[in-house]
Amino acid sequence: MDQPVTAKPSEKLDSFTILLHFGLMIFAVLAWLTGDWAGDYKKISHLGFTVHKMLGIGTALFLAARLFHGFCGPEQARFSNWVPYTRDRLRMVLEDMRGLVSLKLPERGVHQGLEGLWESFGLAVFTWMAATGIVMFLFLIPGQKAHGAVRLVKELHEWGEWLVPIFLAGHVGAVILHALAGDHRWRTVFFLKEN
Ligand code: HEM
Ligand code: HEM
Repeated sequence: MDQPVTAKPSEKLDSFTILLHFGLMIFAVLAWLTGDWAGDYKKISHLGFTVHKMLGIGTALFLAARLFHGFCGPEQARFSNWVPYTRDRLRMVLEDMRGLVSLKLPERGVHQGLEGLWESFGLAVFTWMAATGIVMFLFLIPGQKAHGAVRLVKELHEWGEWLVPIFLAGHVGAVILHALAGDHRWRTVFFLKEN
């Protein structure tokens, strides 16, 4: 039988990653919550669209900084530590999934195993939302219905109605389960000491 893959030592997140995560946490959740309201973009008066657009652009800026940090930042923030999903990394994910079935929470270093895979999914979802949002920011004319290519992009953007809550449910659910099991790393993303 396969030997379990050992977890990477628990590296700490650097303070710039924590700052960017805080920005994402605030802007991305507010952008998601105001998404429906942005449906008023076709009306002459479109406060919901204006508010959502600002929050969306804020999210896109924090996200762009996180992506840049993932390529050019310090060692522990780099995506090369978690992607691509090579055989060994996939084995960690599978081990974590098997563990969950037997009600055992994964204990990994940051970005490793199932948690890391889910975090990659989150970054991909928000990149999708930011990219489609920026196209609308540039080309959608408020006060009238969207047509043609802009309408198609708007429909692709609407996937966020499902993708964002699916990501948040898994991500925040994992944080809550870890906290209930005595792992209080949630405190670090609010600039508090872990213990
Ligand atoms: C990453 C940031 C963003 C997130 C997480 C986000 C999320 C969402 C969500 C969840 C919806 C609701 C979709 C639905 O109810 O079907 C929505 C709608 C919308 N968003 Fe965004 N959005 C972001 C950025 C932007 C930006 C920058 C713009 C620029 C204009 C924008 C424009 C719109 C418009 C016009 C709608 C209404 C679509 C409709 O109801 O027909 N979004 N957004
Ligand atoms: C209510 C909202 C959120 C809470 C409570 C939360 C909490 C956390 C916690 C506790 C960690 C682990 C930190 C560690 O391992 O030391 C984390 C990591 C992470 N979260 Fe969130 N998070 C939230 C929203 C988001 C959003 C909206 C995104 C969007 C992509 C996101 C993406 C990530 C990523 C990528 C990481 C890994 C750290 C990094 O490299 O940036 N989180 N989060």
